Amino acid sequence: MMNYDEPRTILYVSHLKKYFELAGLVRKSKNFVKAVDDINFEVKEGETLGIVGETGCGKTTLGRAILNLIEPTDGDVYLDIPEEDLREIQALERKISQISEETGEIDKQELSHLKSDLHQFRKKYSLTEISTRKLKEYRKIMQPVFQDPFSSLDPRKLIKDSIAEPMKLLTDMTPEQIQDKALSLIMEIGLSEDHLYRFPHEFSGGQRQRLVIARAISIEPKLLVLDEPTSALDVSVQAQILNILKELQKSRNMTYIFISHHLSVIRMMSDRVGVMYLGKMAELAETEALFTDMLHPYTKALMSAIPIPEPNIKRERIVLEGEIPSPANPPKGCYFHSRCQVAMRNCGWSPRDMGESLRLMLDPYRNQEVQSLPNFAEILSDERENTLELVIEEGSKYDMEEVIRGLKALVEKEAARPKGVRFSAITEIVPGDDPNTIVIKMLEQSVPQLKEVRKGHFVSCLIYDYNYWEKEGKTGSGEDMSERSKVYPTAN
Ligand SMILES: Nc1ncnc2c1ncn2[C@@H]1O[C@H](COP(=O)(O)OP(=O)(O)O)[C@@H](O)[C@H]1O
Ligand code: SF4
Ligand SMILES: [Mg+2]
Repeated sequence: MMNYDEPRTILYVSHLKKYFELAGLVRKSKNFVKAVDDINFEVKEGETLGIVGETGCGKTTLGRAILNLIEPTDGDVYLDIPEEDLREIQALERKISQISEETGEIDKQELSHLKSDLHQFRKKYSLTEISTRKLKEYRKIMQPVFQDPFSSLDPRKLIKDSIAEPMKLLTDMTPEQIQDKALSLIMEIGLSEDHLYRFPHEFSGGQRQRLVIARAISIEPKLLVLDEPTSALDVSVQAQILNILKELQKSRNMTYIFISHHLSVIRMMSDRVGVMYLGKMAELAETEALFTDMLHPYTKALMSAIPIPEPNIKRERIVLEGEIPSPANPPKGCYFHSRCQVAMRNCGWSPRDMGESLRLMLDPYRNQEVQSLPNFAEILSDERENTLELVIEEGSKYDMEEVIRGLKALVEKEAARPKGVRFSAITEIVPGDDPNTIVIKMLEQSVPQLKEVRKGHFVSCLIYDYNYWEKEGKTGSGEDMSERSKVYPTAN
């Protein structure tokens, strides 16, 4: 059902991906940095969608892919298209994914019809598919503002010419109209007429960023993509710029995509916020819900790092352990599992997470029981087969059955330790095909999807995934999955 009171959707990003190819050592093996990996969201006219996350999580790449300043690897960006067509596109996408997910016989003909219908829309509207000429039209609707106001203005050009540039390029305004507009803009951002006849080096960082903003809005775009617009500026200047942005937005009903790694700035500016982790959206919700009732374990950890002004409120800080995995070699399952405090057995543990842990387990100083086992020469892991192999030192005397029994007991003991959940992802320990080897098999990893857990609150975490719990055989009713999170206490 369409709700006509709601503001219309101005931007719809669908399955957007940007993979950077890495020069591989071996020519055939292509390696990719999955900087943006299947991102989906809508933005309503007049709202600000904040995008937050640690450095390297893909915020800038997402912004640039939306702007089409870099060519996305896959996916669609629909900007300011008729509402009926947008709903039709989304209905087609839903049907296609429903059919694709069906088990058993799928209706191939139906699927190809739907796909070809969708393709027509994509060719007509999606910024990732349309011609360069049509793309230019969209530049009038969407403009970027980047972090560094120093490199954004040509040092050899007078300010009046820099501001005039997009109007000259993208509109058919007359020179007089352009001049008038430049003057009214410069007043609006709190500078004066004589500033038009100066060069960029005569301005402070904050003033330059105001000029960059004036230039971006000179053609009256409907949407601004602001990538860390105040991160390069002093804190005292930041607030000024943020206020100007708010005022400009109000007077023009502009829509913002506001990218920042600063949680407090994001909170101040955004109506809704998306939290990114390793190229994916971990959580997306209205700002207040996100800051006061966040659901994703990563968001909780991120937020716990914000200092609280009141000294008598005590909150435990969740320390994010381990490094952010490389997006060129992301973990299996949930990308966050290696750092997640409440990770479960299905969350993505794979052989690469086990090598070091098994070595520790087999350390006789840690586990006395190890002394009754033979020595192990090697622990080999096979990520593709989802197995590890223990190689028993040559010349050892042992009884295979006893060794396996001993290993199982050790694994069970480790699984019961705090932070030992990865051991519960071990499903089998069996003799290998080669003599002197033992194979450890691991559980198949589940991959969380971004799902609407409460109205307008999207989370990508298995804790909130009804299907996951059903598969685990732990649920009978369709109760609010967010209740499940209470089963897993977190530090805050
Ligand atoms: N041109 C590029 N070539 C290869 N990798 C890139 C390129 N641009 C960004 N990346 C990688 O993509 C990931 C996301 O980067 P970026 O979008 O800049 O993140 P953020 O803005 O959140 O800090 C990082 O791992 C970064 O190294
Ligand atoms: S799916 Fe949820 S619980 Fe599992 S590792 Fe990811 S964030 Fe943690
Ligand atoms: Mg960035």
